[in-house]
Amino acid sequence: MKTLMYMAPQVKEVSDWTISFQNVAYVAAALLFILALAGLSKQESARRGNWLGIAGMAFALVATIWMAISGADSTLIAVILIVVAILIGAAIGIWRALKVEMTGMPELIALLHSFVGLAAVLVGYNSFIEVPGSALGGRVNAFHLGEVGLAVFIGAVTLTGSIVAFLKLSARISGKPLTLPGRNWLNLGALIVSIALIIWLGYTEGLVAGLIPLIILTVIALLLGAHLVLAIGGGDMPVVVSMLNSYSGWAAAMAGFTLGNDLLIITGALVGSSGAYLSYIMCKAMNRSFISVILGGFGGDGAVSGEQKDYGSHRETTAAEVADMLKSSKSVVITPGYGMAVAQAQYPVATLTSKLREQGVDVRFGIHPVAGRLPGHMNVLLAEAKVPYDIVLEMDEINEDFVDVDTVLVIGANDTVNPAAVDEPGSPIAGMPVLTVWEAANVVVFKRSMGNAGYAGVQNPLFFKENTQMLLGDAKASVEEIISNL
Ligand code: TAP
Repeated sequence: MKTLMYMAPQVKEVSDWTISFQNVAYVAAALLFILALAGLSKQESARRGNWLGIAGMAFALVATIWMAISGADSTLIAVILIVVAILIGAAIGIWRALKVEMTGMPELIALLHSFVGLAAVLVGYNSFIEVPGSALGGRVNAFHLGEVGLAVFIGAVTLTGSIVAFLKLSARISGKPLTLPGRNWLNLGALIVSIALIIWLGYTEGLVAGLIPLIILTVIALLLGAHLVLAIGGGDMPVVVSMLNSYSGWAAAMAGFTLGNDLLIITGALVGSSGAYLSYIMCKAMNRSFISVILGGFGGDGAVSGEQKDYGSHRETTAAEVADMLKSSKSVVITPGYGMAVAQAQYPVATLTSKLREQGVDVRFGIHPVAGRLPGHMNVLLAEAKVPYDIVLEMDEINEDFVDVDTVLVIGANDTVNPAAVDEPGSPIAGMPVLTVWEAANVVVFKRSMGNAGYAGVQNPLFFKENTQMLLGDAKASVEEIISNL
């Protein structure tokens, strides 16, 4: 264990007591991380899960810093360096977290993933420079260099993949998929060459000999990461974000191997596998192939970009008419989407819900798995506004009930309620499961204007159906007006 602890400033012998303390703290932190994930899996326990995660991270930080300081040549310099680094990181993190809008979270998360990737690359290089080939001798040498190669490869793919995802999500570059000819072969070729380079690296001896395959590997991995995400269309970005979350976990786990840090391996594996599972759930929700997402080549090929079809004309309504419709309804379902988040309409929506329930109307919510801009977006907003959990249902739980519903209020949702996904095989969102709101007796769609499309950029035939009425205007103002008319 001690021989593996070659963390940068640590050149002094560390006492057994310090190592025991670190081991205990690491086990406690690992348990807290597992409990945190369990807590985060349900809305009711998510807050507790967050606190457990924070506690786990505090344990991990204290133990790691303690270890680094105890092993450092100059304790004072080690403390100063660590404190300065933490202060700078914390200041930037707190500033960004306070500034970010809920709707801007996916791009911030993508950017943060790129830091994990960069850290894995730097740790890989650092570890290689500290212990270059032959210093450990024979098989240990090959194993160590293999770890370095893998850490740099996964880290570099995560780094550029996340940067491209950030640029696409923040609309700094086009969301259109880049479809180079033979792109799948290019990816496969890059993967095979990378494996060959890692094997070559494992057999090198000395700094210069090893640097050659390591640098070529880094360049190929950086290009591969960018290409994987550039090939993915805008509508499929949610899956990409969670896939990069998974990659960043594996990058951290590989950095854990190169540093000989067990906790980093555990934490990285937890993030990597939970991210992969989240991607799988989202792929299922969007009817995409999980394998093609991991290989970064879907979301564009067959997509005919929303050709303009004539669906007829739409009908508009007023808040007063919607209030009357709601008063005479027995069963109401609200399906919120990204527009509710933009308008911050969750508070009046919660008030409307409680008013209707007081009047004996059965009100439920139907939540699409990718409604909004990040997983669980709608659930977080509704929980914030204190909407009871038991009336907030998942898409699969409510889809069969729409035929018996009197009124559906589609508040700022578009793609997630688009019948083209079911009826039009050529549509870019064909095959994506949607909330079948059009089966209800009446549908009211809240939207600012008829001009804008949803995130996927396709027209929505729901707006032109006979049982649909459009309530145009800001969702928050519209809901408040309905409340005052009730
Ligand atoms: P979208 O398809 O994005 O549609 C949003 C709707 O809200 C539009 O009709 C928009 O029309 C309306 N809107 C915007 N601001 C409004 C306001 N202030 N008041 C009233 N209406 C407003 O939303 P969705 O149905 O939630 O679907 C989500 C989409 O985002 C999916 O395509 C999904 O794949 C994608 N996506 C999801 C995620 C995750 S993980 N959830 C991440 C990235 C992308 P107007 O502009 O005319 O008002």
